[in-house]
Amino acid sequence: MQKAYDFLGGLTPETFLRDYWQKKPLLVRNAFPDAASLLSPDELAGLALEPSEEDDEDDLEDGCEFEHSGVEARIIRSHIDENEKRRWILERGPFTEARLKSLPEKNWTLLVQAVDMYHENVASLLDVFSFIPRWRLDDVMISLAAPGGSVGPHFDRYDVFLIQGIGQRHWQIGQQCSAKTPLIKHPDMKILTTMDATQAWTLNPGDMLYLPPLIAHHGVAIDTCMTYSVGFRAPAIEVLFDKLTHHVADHSQQDERYTDPDLSPQKNSGWLSEQAVAKVQTLMMAHIQDSNQVRDWLAQLVTEPKYAVDYENIDPDETTESVGQKEFLDRLKQNQVVFRDNYSRFIYTGQENQAEKFYINGHEIPLPEKNLADARQLVIYLCNNRYYNSENLWTYLQHQALCQWFIRLFQKGYFYIQE
Ligand code: SIN
Ligand code: CO
Repeated sequence: MQKAYDFLGGLTPETFLRDYWQKKPLLVRNAFPDAASLLSPDELAGLALEPSEEDDEDDLEDGCEFEHSGVEARIIRSHIDENEKRRWILERGPFTEARLKSLPEKNWTLLVQAVDMYHENVASLLDVFSFIPRWRLDDVMISLAAPGGSVGPHFDRYDVFLIQGIGQRHWQIGQQCSAKTPLIKHPDMKILTTMDATQAWTLNPGDMLYLPPLIAHHGVAIDTCMTYSVGFRAPAIEVLFDKLTHHVADHSQQDERYTDPDLSPQKNSGWLSEQAVAKVQTLMMAHIQDSNQVRDWLAQLVTEPKYAVDYENIDPDETTESVGQKEFLDRLKQNQVVFRDNYSRFIYTGQENQAEKFYINGHEIPLPEKNLADARQLVIYLCNNRYYNSENLWTYLQHQALCQWFIRLFQKGYFYIQE
């Protein structure tokens, strides 16, 4: 029998997925009792600031392994205009400290995307969602709002778990929306013209509201409040076709073309025959039905990092002595835990209990030829977790080939040890 989860209000993951996931909302009181202490408003605001030159120097001193393109932050404000209509204003970050300090007492929200990448506390929130495939997870967005602050009535195209941190927020949920649902005219925001509220709740610190895609919702801060949105993603058909066709184009042979050795005389030369249409479909379907090709492409696609990240370039021919094998093993002995870098996306393909191929951030990582059976087990362990007990790792790293293979990944920056 599956374990019931408190954060799902006593439901088992099986029941939650069967009755709620992608189907209907679920409110759970006190689902995350510690949510208010995960991150302070100042820490969140700090992420939305323009990086200073000092920060750049600090990064170098800490031996920061990678650079990223900056934190994605927005401010949404609203006010009632002279015609008694609510007006919405969106500003994109990063922001200066002066800008954040100049915000009024009411009616604004600061939103910061992907906070799980920057704060381990926030990343740890994701661990309970491990019954949902990790590749479906997008990020944890956090909002900090002044009283009256709201991003407006809207709908999202993805599943979201809204977890209340500090303060209270009043939520209304309403109609099922679609691409045809009327939106107000706004250059940057998608706000509903009408919200037909069907249910409403006030969420207190630790409470959680799960919403499936396309449900109208509107959250308004009652006091200074922080809301964590654990957002999922589902690739859109236009993205899938766009990316798949590029992949097929890159991997197909030049001489793989439309052929018609069975062509028979056509009475009307101006006609595009049904046979020709069927032949093109068959030619293209062969690629879509090639599971090996689709699996490799999809694994690369779903592990593409959310933001561009530069990892260390490790020469594959360099020996691990020169990339610090002894130093790594010494550090592992002294520390309990190795963390996965929170920017990285890992996935394996093959059977669920037999990893065939391993992917990190859009690239296949070849497995070592020696100790392959253990490597396959290690890959499953690495993909299923975000941090690794050094004793568990140690058992795998007894094998020289595996040890060298892992250290290369460590040196590239996919893992780190917190001293
Ligand atoms: C918020 O945190 O203010 C908005 C989250 C959402 O509605 O998706
Ligand atoms: Co939303």
